[in-house]
Amino acid sequence: MEKINIGNNVFLLPMPMVLVGSRIKGRPNFMAVAWVSRVNASPNVMCVAIGNKFTAEGILENKEFSINIPSVDLMPQTDLMGIVSGRDYDKSKEFDIFYGALKNAPMICECPVMMECRLVKSVRLEVDTLFMGEVMNVWSEEKYLTNGAPDITKVSPFCLSMPDNRYWSLGKEIGKAWHEGMKLKDKLQKI
Ligand SMILES: Cc1cc2nc3c(=O)[nH]c(=O)nc-3n(C[C@H](O)[C@H](O)[C@H](O)COP(=O)(O)O)c2cc1C
Repeated sequence: MEKINIGNNVFLLPMPMVLVGSRIKGRPNFMAVAWVSRVNASPNVMCVAIGNKFTAEGILENKEFSINIPSVDLMPQTDLMGIVSGRDYDKSKEFDIFYGALKNAPMICECPVMMECRLVKSVRLEVDTLFMGEVMNVWSEEKYLTNGAPDITKVSPFCLSMPDNRYWSLGKEIGKAWHEGMKLKDKLQKI
């Protein structure tokens, strides 16, 4: 089948939406972030890619931030945190705030899962900065857990697709990771 080159600015990958919390000059602030990923296993390090935003100033100021996972019912509030800047609006009153061990990593009580992170490294790219934070603690509530771990069906996170800029909830479970491929392994030629 002939492939069509559709440019270099098309990312259909669903990106999980999070809210990044920081404190800037003493004021808590939250921003919507889609460019987020785990980037190291031990210690557990999460990375967020953030442009020239108010949040970036706060992370550089205090070397701490939070990653809050909103559920689908928080979608409009999450979107709002991506529309206005803390430079122009006080976004600290939009949520109930919770602090864990880090005093400059405000977390959102309404979110089912919250991580408090200590900045371990930042990498400046042309436009964005990659902020890598060691996850110090993850917070949740009993109602979002199954056998002590966050249950994705209870947490109900949502994703962004680009460049159409739309939000998506999750579909059905389709299999077990590190398991479904085993059925095919015998067909591989061992070296
Ligand atoms: C759906 C969505 C996803 C976004 N993802 C990012 C992102 O990954 N990185 C980024 O720098 N800005 C992202 N933004 C833009 C910021 O959230 C937005 O500029 C925000 O106003 C910054 O807030 P602040 O200035 O208070 O830090 C996103 C916005 C939306 C609506």
